[in-house]
Amino acid sequence: MVDFNKKIDRSKNDSRKWAGRKKYFGREDLLPMWVADMDIEAPDVVVEALKNKADQKIFGYTMENERYIGSLVNWVKKRHGSKLSFERIAHSPTVVTSLNLLIKILTNEGDQIMIQSPTYPQFVKQIESNGRKVVINELVEKENGYEMDFIDFEEKVKNSVVFILCNPHNPAGRVWTREESSKIAEICVKYGVKIISDEIHSDLILDGKHISIASLGREVENLVYTCLSATKTFNLAGIQSSFVVFPTRKEKENFVEELSLIGVHEPNSFCMDMVISAYNHGEEWLEKLLDHLRGNIEFAVDYIEKNIPQIRVKKPEATYLLWLDLRKFGLDDEKLKERLVEDGGLALTMGGGFMGSGFARMNIACPRYMLEDGLERLKKAFG
Ligand SMILES: Cc1ncc(COP(=O)(O)O)c(C=O)c1O
Repeated sequence: MVDFNKKIDRSKNDSRKWAGRKKYFGREDLLPMWVADMDIEAPDVVVEALKNKADQKIFGYTMENERYIGSLVNWVKKRHGSKLSFERIAHSPTVVTSLNLLIKILTNEGDQIMIQSPTYPQFVKQIESNGRKVVINELVEKENGYEMDFIDFEEKVKNSVVFILCNPHNPAGRVWTREESSKIAEICVKYGVKIISDEIHSDLILDGKHISIASLGREVENLVYTCLSATKTFNLAGIQSSFVVFPTRKEKENFVEELSLIGVHEPNSFCMDMVISAYNHGEEWLEKLLDHLRGNIEFAVDYIEKNIPQIRVKKPEATYLLWLDLRKFGLDDEKLKERLVEDGGLALTMGGGFMGSGFARMNIACPRYMLEDGLERLKKAFG
């Protein structure tokens, strides 16, 4: 029986979320609900795979096996109904590694790359650190959540070389619909704009259906570089495993060659067996996890509406991240953070880094007792 409410202890886990409290918040006594991993144990089948690998007692150079990419292909077919081409998929240690390298390969210095705000901070970092120019298409706040402004989208994307799509969206929690995705595809095809589609959260759908933009026809597929990973799905971020699906086999081979030039030849000793096991045997666990996350979200949104009504929050359609609107308090991010840390004893990710000042992101992927504690702390800070 999986128990997502079991007491957990990450004190010896070298966890960025827990061990990083002093460095990033100046105090160690905070409840950390910031970094996007889960305070939930990975599936037993994954731990078994890791133990079996450890039992081999030899951890020399590795070589990618066919079962690794094969497990992703089967998983995506089963979960999302999309057929991926085995030959066009490459391993990459992390999605951020892929973003960095894809930007280098697909664009030249000074080129414009469009993203949508609020945004996952690494999009901006990777574009700017490569000397490319960030262009922002702001998402628009509507009663039911963020929507895209397609007039501004077209205006800006036509002068961009690449558009980075985040689907599902971190931090807004949107699952872009078939209509929205088709519109993006239509505009990008019209102007020949390449799309890097970050779909790392695509297995964490709580409401709706994930539509991978590359699945919308060959014309758009020719422009799309899809980033996928089992690490968010099964809470394995520390093992470093992800994938990129390319439009052509040649582009995949070029990417693999570029990665090998910086010494990233093959998946590490542990990640292949763990990911294969997760994809092949982890579906039942995932379904239970999604139920747990839905329950936590329901509980948190209800608590906030009743106890801290000045905070506005919507249920995300995907991810385990709540995007809290704190603008009613009229404070800048520094002051909001101070209130959270000093008055609440709570560590959240502040909105400024996402180009969403006045907001904070709260990670609810934890046992219920921890969520209750976190919400009480939030109330102490802002109630
Ligand atoms: C949208 C998005 N992309 C990428 C990442 C990071 O992925 P990785 O650890 O594989 O670099 C995250 C992590 O939170 C994310 O939210």
